[in-house]
Amino acid sequence: MSNDIKIYLGDCKNVLKTIDSNSVDLIITSPPYADQRKNTYGGISPYKYVEWFLPISKELLRVLKPTGTFVLNIKEKVVEGERSTYVMELILEMRKQGWLWTEEFIWHKKNCYPGKWSNRFRDAWERLLQFNKEKHFNMYQDAVKIPIGDWANGRLKNLSDTDKIRDNAKNGSGFGKNISNWVGKKTVYPTNVVHLSTECNNKKHSAAFPNALPEWFIKLFTQENDVVLDPFMGSGTTNIVAQKMGRNSIGIEILPEYYQMVENIINNKEPNLLNKNKETENEHIKHKRHYAICQ
Ligand SMILES: C[S@@+](CC[C@H](N)C(=O)[O-])C[C@H]1O[C@@H](n2cnc3c(N)ncnc32)[C@H](O)[C@@H]1O
Repeated sequence: MSNDIKIYLGDCKNVLKTIDSNSVDLIITSPPYADQRKNTYGGISPYKYVEWFLPISKELLRVLKPTGTFVLNIKEKVVEGERSTYVMELILEMRKQGWLWTEEFIWHKKNCYPGKWSNRFRDAWERLLQFNKEKHFNMYQDAVKIPIGDWANGRLKNLSDTDKIRDNAKNGSGFGKNISNWVGKKTVYPTNVVHLSTECNNKKHSAAFPNALPEWFIKLFTQENDVVLDPFMGSGTTNIVAQKMGRNSIGIEILPEYYQMVENIINNKEPNLLNKNKETENEHIKHKRHYAICQ
């Protein structure tokens, strides 16, 4: 099977205009966070962030299929002792633009390094905001099931009478459960907290996704041959993972050095740092390639 990777050099605000409407199944991306990494690829003032992002999200809304999903990795920084509010403002403005804010996943960064601040603890999580165009979107929950865990061995052995019926919570929360439903089950759905370590050390990009991050969302929201878009491509993690999973993908990157690096990886001119197994890498580079310079 062959899958396309199309990569573009340019500002995604402009490049997105060249992509067909309703053509993308999943957008997953991590844009520059406000004022961070100014020295590597620029930063946007927290006060200008919403204004900067809205023309981009408008195009993302246009290119996404009605059944598609947009996952936005973002985290507000601390300015003068307070968390910025631009992410919240962005969510409100994107809702006005027509997006549904469907869910918020938390990326728990398992390996964040220790730190000491007088008035806060180390930052160990980031937001993964899920937006959709429609209430009914494609979601393949079974693809991300996890083992039920050891709790089932003890808890499910001796079921009480209330375990065998739907037991409504005593606190009136409206939640209820029938524990016996889990008997014989080996796997369950995961939570909305994604526990993953960062992996920047082996990539030539200061803010690369761990492979498992796009992989998890690609499994959850797409099927083989679907189209995945990362408008802030960086080192191309999303695209390379998508290709390994049999999905087509589009990547857009404003900095020529990152664009070139990804082009070299997919042309096999540069070792794929995302892929330690060279044989597997070659196996997967059986795809039609489209490159375009579009600024
Ligand atoms: C946080 S990094 C993304 C890293 C990526 N997820 C990875 O795994 O390597 C953001 C990237 O967006 C690029 N970028 C910034 N502004 C852009 C724009 N307007 N259009 C396209 N790319 C942009 C930066 O150069 C940077 O490489």
